[in-house]
Amino acid sequence: MASFLICYASGQGQTAKVADYVRTVLTERGHDPTLRHVSDTTGVDIDAFDAVLVGSPVNYRKHLPAVVEFVDANRDALTSRPTAFFQLSFASILPSGQGTEEAAEFVNALVERTDWQPDRVGLFAGAVAYTRYGPLTRHLFKLVASLTTGDTDTSREYEYTDWNEVEAFAVEFATFVEEGTEALERKRSGRPNTPTGPTGQRWAALLTLAAVGIPLLAYHRFVRPWYLDWGATDEEVERRLPGDDLVSAASSETTRAVTIGAPSDEVWPWIVQLGQGRGGFYSYSWLENLIGADIHNVDRIVPELQRLEEGDSIRMVTEDYWVQSPITSMTVEYIDPGRTLVLRGYDGGTWTFHLDPVDATTTRFVVRGRTPSNQALLARVVRYVAYELPHFVMERGMLLGIKARAERAGHVDVSAE
Ligand SMILES: Cc1cc2nc3c(=O)[nH]c(=O)nc-3n(C[C@H](O)[C@H](O)[C@H](O)COP(=O)(O)O)c2cc1C
Repeated sequence: MASFLICYASGQGQTAKVADYVRTVLTERGHDPTLRHVSDTTGVDIDAFDAVLVGSPVNYRKHLPAVVEFVDANRDALTSRPTAFFQLSFASILPSGQGTEEAAEFVNALVERTDWQPDRVGLFAGAVAYTRYGPLTRHLFKLVASLTTGDTDTSREYEYTDWNEVEAFAVEFATFVEEGTEALERKRSGRPNTPTGPTGQRWAALLTLAAVGIPLLAYHRFVRPWYLDWGATDEEVERRLPGDDLVSAASSETTRAVTIGAPSDEVWPWIVQLGQGRGGFYSYSWLENLIGADIHNVDRIVPELQRLEEGDSIRMVTEDYWVQSPITSMTVEYIDPGRTLVLRGYDGGTWTFHLDPVDATTTRFVVRGRTPSNQALLARVVRYVAYELPHFVMERGMLLGIKARAERAGHVDVSAE
């Protein structure tokens, strides 16, 4: 019977499970194993054990720092007795051959870094514990899984560890320790057992992909939802507005809102005179005119522009603009004076301007955009990549432009949005 110390660290618990299984196998073989987390080894006399096993998962191409520190601190004791190292990784999950070299490379790096050469090495497939990851790691793994295993159901955990392999590893190391003389001989000859191989190019490629994918996911998950419903309350986002039913199935919807320190009947005149050749769009003129739209944002209410009827056309660019297409104008689809204006674009999408009086001196101004879902894929991609964000910048400018004008007219100021 030999005494074994099994030390490990674990992020989500799979390495702990493997360490425990190794203990069971050694116990069943008649040995005396002690299982310890590396952080719980203070006071443990390694010299009192016949053999030591160390285990770690790979995180971002490295072993857990606590394991490396343990090896550094106990190098002499480890070097003078039979030792084994076992590793859990995603690389070992990949179909045979693909990940073996990468997995071995992590161990080679550990050996180089710590100058500790274990007698036996076990490379095991780990687990993907989606439910225990934070949102970013979960998405990163989903991305990697979609390119490799196809196991992308984030509501569950996937365990890939082959328990027969773990058992074979434990039995083989136990046999090695049992044949003590042979072990000493091998250690003296210094023959390495660590698998070697070229650098893990595949992981490098996946991590590069992640470096691009994570910012994109962060944009999609956090930045985009913020600007799609900028300034609006949950209730305003949920609420149906006049004009919504004109687009029965929307592929995207935006709801943006601002509180204006003026009564609604003082805000409405600014809305009703919207348009090129009319009051303008009250946003960033230099941006509006980058495309030569010749928009002039007025700072006064123009009495002649206060009449607007259903069927009227509101231009986005000049009448003699070089592109003459339905894209350059919108039609008044519905008007409820003082409350709501609904414009409709060439693609059937709607742009709704809605006023909600809060009290005698305050108004909530809500603007909604709805895009029909029957758009071609290319149009959707262009919209996502090139239109949504600039449109948000301009529309936010318009909301704030109308707020500033209405408040200036009444000399009232409410806290900035
Ligand atoms: C944040 C994080 C980073 C990881 N980085 C790598 C890596 O670079 N290479 C790899 O092969 N596996 C990587 N993995 C996979 C783990 O090594 C594998 O899931 C292992 O089973 C985790 O064991 P544990 O549950 O004991 O932490 C990573 C896992 C996580 C959660």
